[in-house]
Formats: sequence, structure tokens, C-alpha cells
Amino acid sequence: MWRNSRETFGFVAITFHWAIALLFFGQIALGFLTQEMAKRPRLQFDLYQWHKSIGFLVLTLALLRIGWAVSSLQPEPVARTPRWEAGAAHAAHLLLLGLTVIVPLTGWAIASASPLRIPSFAFDLVVVPDLPLTRSDASEAFWSRLHALLAWGSGGLALAHAAAAIHHHIARRDTTLSRMLGS
Ligand code: HEM
Ligand code: HEM
Repeated sequence: MWRNSRETFGFVAITFHWAIALLFFGQIALGFLTQEMAKRPRLQFDLYQWHKSIGFLVLTLALLRIGWAVSSLQPEPVARTPRWEAGAAHAAHLLLLGLTVIVPLTGWAIASASPLRIPSFAFDLVVVPDLPLTRSDASEAFWSRLHALLAWGSGGLALAHAAAAIHHHIARRDTTLSRMLGS
């Protein structure tokens, strides 16, 4: 089943969810690694290019996913989920959806504000143009701090979200996780 129903997620929503989740956590690890490689500038440069390319991929997938989600039915919370919990889960999902767009945009803003003018390649295939932002050290530092704050914050939220899903699976034994696994 390609599309969502009132009871469960369809193949497209499941594929978007797990592809973006994997790439998003990978990007946090890669972003962290780039910061640790200051003494190896050649490797650091390559890691930055991978980080930017995968970030542009996440941005594209996240926009497609949002387009798909707004044109789809959303499954109801599983039976016996308290109202407050369904509301909190819904809010966390909306926040995570928004962050998968905003975090790459703030990363793109760093590259666009940097006086170094290093071009951003997407997988060595195309040069991605810079956003129209003020180019200065102060502007680069502002976007860099915001990017780090939002990236680490969204990583924390995603971990809490994953822990909630695992709690449903192990302690409550309901179908919250299995319906996102297609079973
Ligand atoms: C899913 C998307 C992304 C995630 C989760 C992410 C995450 C991160 C993290 C965790 C760091 C380390 C921050 C720190 O501790 O200081 C980082 C750094 C960085 N990211 Fe991203 N990033 C994403 C997308 C992008 C994109 C699309 C670009 C550029 C086109 C980008 C450019 C950068 C740059 C330039 C740094 C180094 C910042 C500095 O020099 O202080 N990121 N990113
Ligand atoms: C191992 C990590 C993860 C697990 C176990 C997990 C598990 C789940 C489960 C079980 C659902 C369905 C909840 C329901 O039926 O109400 C869900 C939905 C969702 N998850 Fe995750 N998730 C993980 C990582 C992530 C990450 C990293 C993001 C985004 C950065 C994310 C964003 C979302 C969103 C936006 C939804 C709402 C449904 C949709 O639009 O696809 N998840 N997740």
C-alpha cells in the first residue's frame, strides 16, 4: 500500500521517514566530525563537502515529504493513547518536520555568509548558489551558532521521539512502532 490509511502509514511515508531519520542522525555525526578535524584541513574540506551535499539531499527529501504529507490522510493515534500524549506526539512530529527543513537552511546560510566564498557542491554534480545574505565574519558566526544550536536541539528531540516509540513497543506493546515499520 503506497498511501497512508486512517490505521497505518503507507510505503511512501515509511520510506521518507526512515531515509530522513538515517541521514539526519548521520549529518549530526558528520557535522561533529568536521569540527574535530581542524588539524587535517584536506580531510576536513572533504567532510564539509559531504556534509553540505547530504544536507541538500535532506532538504530536498524533507520538502517532498511535507508535500506528500499535506496531500495524504494522517493515521489516527493508536487505540487507548491518552489525548495529552497524542497532542504531544503531534506537536513533536510537526516540530521535527519543520527542523528537517530549517536545520539544512541554516547550514546553507553559513556557507552563503562566509567571506571565504567556498562554493557548495551537491555531490560534485551541481554548484548550489548561495543564499542572498550579508557576507561577513559576524554574519557567518551568527548562522554557525544558530545551525549548531538547532542541529543539536533537533538531535535531542529526535532521540526523545525515538525513545517514546521504543517505549510504546516494549512497555505498552502497541502498534506505534510496527506500523512505521510496515508490519
Ligand atoms: C540535516 C541537515 C544538517 C544537520 C543535521 C547538520 C548538523 C550539523 C552539526 C551537528 C554541526 C556541528 C555543529 C557544532 O557542534 O559546532 C554542523 C556544522 C556545520 N554544518 Fe551542518 N548540518 C546539516 C546541514 C548542513 C548544510 C545543508 C550545510 C551547508 C550547505 C551545512 C553546513 C555546516 C557547516 C559549514 C558547519 C560548520 C560550522 C562551523 O564552522 O562552526 N550543514 N552541522
Ligand atoms: C531511531 C529513530 C526513530 C524512531 C524509532 C522513530 C519512530 C517513529 C514512529 C514509530 C513514528 C510513528 C508515530 C505514530 O504513529 O504516531 C514516527 C513518526 C514520525 N517521526 Fe520518527 N523515529 C525516529 C527518528 C526520527 C527522526 C530522526 C525524525 C526527524 C528528524 C523523525 C520524524 C518523525 C515524524 C515527522 C513523524 C510523523 C510521521 C511522518 O510524517 O512521517 N523520526 N517515528
